[in-house]
Amino acid sequence: GEIVLSGVRPTGQLHLGNYFGALRNYVKMQEEYNCYFFIADLHSLTTHPDTRELREHILSVTSYYLASGLDPDKCVLYCQSDLPQTTELYLYLNMLAYKGELEKTTTFKDKIKQHPENVNAGLLTYPVLMASDILIHRAHYVPVGKDQEQHLEMTRTFGNRFNHRYGEVFPEPKAFNYGAQLLKVPSLDGAGKMSKSENQYATIYLSDDDDLIRKKVMKAKTDSGPTEPNSEKPDYIVNIFDMMKLVSDPSAIEKYEADFNACTIRYGDLKKQLAEDMVRFISPIREKAKAIREDERALSIILKVGAQKAAENAEKTMQMVRQAMGLKYF
Ligand code: TYM
Repeated sequence: GEIVLSGVRPTGQLHLGNYFGALRNYVKMQEEYNCYFFIADLHSLTTHPDTRELREHILSVTSYYLASGLDPDKCVLYCQSDLPQTTELYLYLNMLAYKGELEKTTTFKDKIKQHPENVNAGLLTYPVLMASDILIHRAHYVPVGKDQEQHLEMTRTFGNRFNHRYGEVFPEPKAFNYGAQLLKVPSLDGAGKMSKSENQYATIYLSDDDDLIRKKVMKAKTDSGPTEPNSEKPDYIVNIFDMMKLVSDPSAIEKYEADFNACTIRYGDLKKQLAEDMVRFISPIREKAKAIREDERALSIILKVGAQKAAENAEKTMQMVRQAMGLKYF
């Protein structure tokens, strides 16, 4: 069957963007495809996290994978650093990735601005490592959010370059979302995408307790409401409706749409509705993850078994790669 690969960096807690951009698709895809889902701990090293915290975050992300519905009998779950074939492929692909194109990557340019004191080579070649994650399994589909689109484009470039130079090994991987368009979950402060860090009230984490979720939603940016019937919504109001589309009943959304168009909408009520729907959505996942996290031994076994299964496929790829490159000298 067709192969799927995706993963999440274990940098802090997972948030709604990670869930709706990525995890929700993983859970559906495991029923249909040959799926590999991993935890990108090596990518996290580019920003120099405390490696003791990294271990905790790897266990936490694994717990959320399982709590969201990933089933180790239906998909392969592993930790990136447990699959050394990825880093071998990364080395070869680095010879096919040019400094100029790497410097043009949006995520790299953002990181330079945020942390000019830490512009390391791993950061520059971040897309090459990501391409290796994908190509090591010869993946066809990669469920990701909109922010990863450019990395997928680069993965195709590197894969095609390899195929062209050494012979056909890699299929062309496509970014994937069941809603067709790649998703961008907005930040609650009305600016940009939801992401780890930044403004503490702008991001809803899957680990947030019910009251914190309510508090964050109620703080989301609004204004005093429309003054003209059927007027255009400001971006931050569009964002609130977009969030409702993720967790609320369509009939509730229709009602607030109509209220907006009639200028009778009360944003306090709108946000209360969103807050309650969000709580109803998140709390069971959070509680399940908490319970799963308790059994560290079970989690480590799942990742170990997963790494063994991942290695079987990865080693096949590497044999094809070494063969194609002519690196089997004797
Ligand atoms: P990361 O850890 O930043 O995010 C994990 C996944 O969550 C998605 N995502 C979002 N989707 C919609 N709206 C948002 N606001 C939002 N924020 C995050 C991301 O698109 C991603 O799918 N480089 C990757 C990790 C990675 C990877 C890979 C992914 C490494 N190798 C190979 C796929 C395949 C990253 O930093 O994702």
